[in-house]
Amino acid sequence: MPLNTDLIRQQFPSLNRPAVFLDNPAGTQISKQSLDRINRYLLEHNANHEGMFETSRRSDEVLHEAHGSMADFLNASRPEEIIFGNNMTTLTLHISRSLARNLQAGDNILVTRLDHDANISPWMLIAEDKGCNLIWVDMDVEEGTLDLDDFAKALERKPKIAAFGYASNLLGTVNPVKKLTKMAHEAGALVYIDAVQYAPHGPIDVQDLDCDFLVCSSYKYSETQITRHVQFHSSPGHWKDKTVTFWNQIPKRVMGYNECLSPFSFRSVHNDA
Ligand SMILES: Cc1ncc(COP(=O)(O)O)c(C=O)c1O
Repeated sequence: MPLNTDLIRQQFPSLNRPAVFLDNPAGTQISKQSLDRINRYLLEHNANHEGMFETSRRSDEVLHEAHGSMADFLNASRPEEIIFGNNMTTLTLHISRSLARNLQAGDNILVTRLDHDANISPWMLIAEDKGCNLIWVDMDVEEGTLDLDDFAKALERKPKIAAFGYASNLLGTVNPVKKLTKMAHEAGALVYIDAVQYAPHGPIDVQDLDCDFLVCSSYKYSETQITRHVQFHSSPGHWKDKTVTFWNQIPKRVMGYNECLSPFSFRSVHNDA
């Protein structure tokens, strides 16, 4: 059964006119439910979290619910694997800085010519700072996806990190990320997937992909610029004991998640497929 797009459209006041918005990189429209929930939170519970008072406890609850909703959306095994941040670019900068602590001069990092700059520049900066080498993977110009032979060749140089995209922001083409993840793991690399342009279009199952990190941008599928976030999935199997946590997020930024994600949960998307 397909998604009920009429029902979804009704939840977005800005779409209740003869208009079709295609410009998701500039930010998508907000649903009434999300906005109501944000307003309610700000009016009734506005507080920093982890405090010993009522509004703070309520903020914690909201935050936990949001982690749960996002874990469901990505089929992460635990809500604790979800991290919220400002946007994909900022979190990639943070995460790359954290991972860089384990890199040595001369280590290799795999990046691709098909990726958005947000999944390239942070790794370039790390390479510059730590004396690491970037290995560039080309795209297959006929298919518009990554060149698998070139990817395999790059892995022969045993990169410590492989950063690649799920779907191209330029072409809309989708890479075989599960296969790429397996290949990269076999070569000993940590896998960092940019799913910013795939998340609005298809179900994501981070357990099935078995990736180490997956980042996406909720303001590109269901939110406004003021509530935009990025979440990443860290698979403990591959990044054991080195969990990177960003607990400085502000609860009010995430309180709309339960509303905005409920029609798009992993289960509802898969049941409808
Ligand atoms: C594929 C892709 N990755 C990353 C980004 C950057 O996302 P953000 O604005 O959340 O930093 C974009 C922005 O359009 C994108 O299309």
